Amino acid sequence: MAVIELQDITKEFVMGGETLRALDGVSFKVEAGEFVAITGPSGCGKSTLMNVLGLLDLPHSGQYLLDGRPSQSLTDDELAGMRNSKIGFVFQSFHLLPRATALRNVEMPLVYAVGDQPDLTAERRRTLAQAALEKVGLQDRMNHKPNELSGGQRQRVAIARALVNSPKLLLADEPTGNLDSRSGKDILKLFQELNASGVTIIMVTHDPSIADQASRVISMRDGRIKEDIRKKTPHMGELSRAPT
Ligand SMILES: Nc1ncnc2c1ncn2[C@@H]1O[C@H](COP(=O)(O)OP(=O)(O)O)[C@@H](O)[C@H]1O
Ligand SMILES: [Mg+2]
Repeated sequence: MAVIELQDITKEFVMGGETLRALDGVSFKVEAGEFVAITGPSGCGKSTLMNVLGLLDLPHSGQYLLDGRPSQSLTDDELAGMRNSKIGFVFQSFHLLPRATALRNVEMPLVYAVGDQPDLTAERRRTLAQAALEKVGLQDRMNHKPNELSGGQRQRVAIARALVNSPKLLLADEPTGNLDSRSGKDILKLFQELNASGVTIIMVTHDPSIADQASRVISMRDGRIKEDIRKKTPHMGELSRAPT
């Protein structure tokens, strides 16, 4: 079953009496285990699409199925629950708590989840946060605060925070946009490892050399999908066009 299925999604913004169609009939599916890059010029709707995918924003029309469930039919509580348990987010500007250590930052989503999962004791939360930081290679930086870390390390903390709930879907909007090219490559390598371990990844980037590393590249223009190319599937190294 597809992790994500979008059918003819539209999203409009009204600004100064004018209506702007940020998403203009977007349809695609993402299967479990895919690593998808979304590219396109600034303003073409990439972040709007990510916000819809992440259940941060609802489309105006069309259907979005996440794990087979139509998102329109969910209550606010159910949406929050889905966001918390199924999706990890990574943003260009990290969004870390500046006064909190790496460990504390990574524990935060678990603190929010306690209401639904009473077995998440402080000790359990710490263990899970430590494991997530180890996964991103920061085992020796757990007690550092963001201003004591490099940009690449901050983004790793943000990735660990996104992973701490073991989401099946990782959404990343320009995750390398604020990094130098070497740190960007390191983050990409980490994404590839995570993908190989079974996490489905959708990543926005306008850097072609970064997009090139994904197994599928969706190009957008003016709120629409212009091209959808599967370069290799996880198990076959073949060039093929994705079914639409
Ligand atoms: N909250 C908003 N209010 C009004 N217009 C918006 C809003 N968010 C995005 N837009 C507009 O929608 C279009 C797509 O924006 P966005 O999805 O951020 O593009 P991208 O991420 O590809 O640069 C742009 O024209 C942008 O100005
Ligand atoms: Mg954007």
